[in-house]
Amino acid sequence: EPRVFSGVQPSGQLTLGNYLGAIRNFVPLQDTHDCIYCMVDLHAITQWQDPTELAHATRQVAAAFMAAGVDPDKSLLFNQSLVPQHAQLGWVFNCVARVGWLNRMTQFKEKAGKDQENASVGLYAYPTLMAADILLYKATAVPVGEDQKQHLELTRDIAQKFNHDWGKEVFPITEPLILGDATRVMSLRDGTKKMSKSDPSDLSRINLTDDRDTIAKKFKKAKTDPEPLPETVEGLEGRPEAQNLVDIFAALADISKEDVILQFGGKGFGTFKPALAEVAVGKLGPLRDEMERLLSDPAEIDSILHKGAQRAQAVAAPVLDEVYDVLGLVR
Ligand code: TYM
Repeated sequence: EPRVFSGVQPSGQLTLGNYLGAIRNFVPLQDTHDCIYCMVDLHAITQWQDPTELAHATRQVAAAFMAAGVDPDKSLLFNQSLVPQHAQLGWVFNCVARVGWLNRMTQFKEKAGKDQENASVGLYAYPTLMAADILLYKATAVPVGEDQKQHLELTRDIAQKFNHDWGKEVFPITEPLILGDATRVMSLRDGTKKMSKSDPSDLSRINLTDDRDTIAKKFKKAKTDPEPLPETVEGLEGRPEAQNLVDIFAALADISKEDVILQFGGKGFGTFKPALAEVAVGKLGPLRDEMERLLSDPAEIDSILHKGAQRAQAVAAPVLDEVYDVLGLVR
């Protein structure tokens, strides 16, 4: 079976963007692919994390995966630092990727901000570790939101350069899987900005830990233009806030955008927003309850992650051995 790998950083709160852009899509892939889902804690520490928070967030992401329907008996579920081969292959890829390639990464520029000199070396090298995550398992399909596309192109470049420089087809070429109607969920306060766990305004995002009232309140307060919803999907163009809310509705209700417009075209946001809030609460409420239930037993989560990591190492170790042999590293 073809292999899937994807990762989510345990930093801050998981958002509706993480859910619709990535986590939700992990579930059906379990029927057709060999799936590996990872809490990428070594990526999280490229920016300072409070240690207690990091440990909690790691278990919380694991709980979100399982609450969404990731089955740890079918899929491999673990945190990255439990499988040391990620960091080992990451180093090799630091020696394959070129400085010029990393200089072009837009996420580094966004995250480092104005003071690039003061960003960690890890934040700069972030994409090489991400390539290692994927290629350590020779995964060919990676379900992600749109914002990860550039990193996946770099992963292909690294695989190609490695294969070329050592004259062996060690690594496959990876394809991004960008699925569903909400591949780039936007901020609820500004339809031109991505919904992000690092946005200072909590009203800009729906967190997977938000209770039902908070979810409803945030959709009610979401920024919109004064026009009613258009009568056609094309009419959403140039109206980023309306577009975003329609995308979110379609994704959460599992219907097409056309059907959302069929139902709400010509109606005002005073009608649409409460309906959207209801759909969101109906989907996210039970998800939150299940996350809470799973998190009440952190030892059980840790044991699941340990088992997942052991199974992952059984796949990863032979690949790293192959790489070391190709390079001429004596072992
Ligand atoms: P991270 O932790 O920022 O986000 C996790 C996943 O959520 C998606 N996502 C979104 N999708 C739609 N709309 C949004 N507003 C939104 N915000 C986030 C992301 O695209 C991602 O799929 N570099 C990765 C983590 C990573 C990884 C990997 C992913 C490390 N190694 C290997 C895939 C394969 C990241 O920072 O995701």
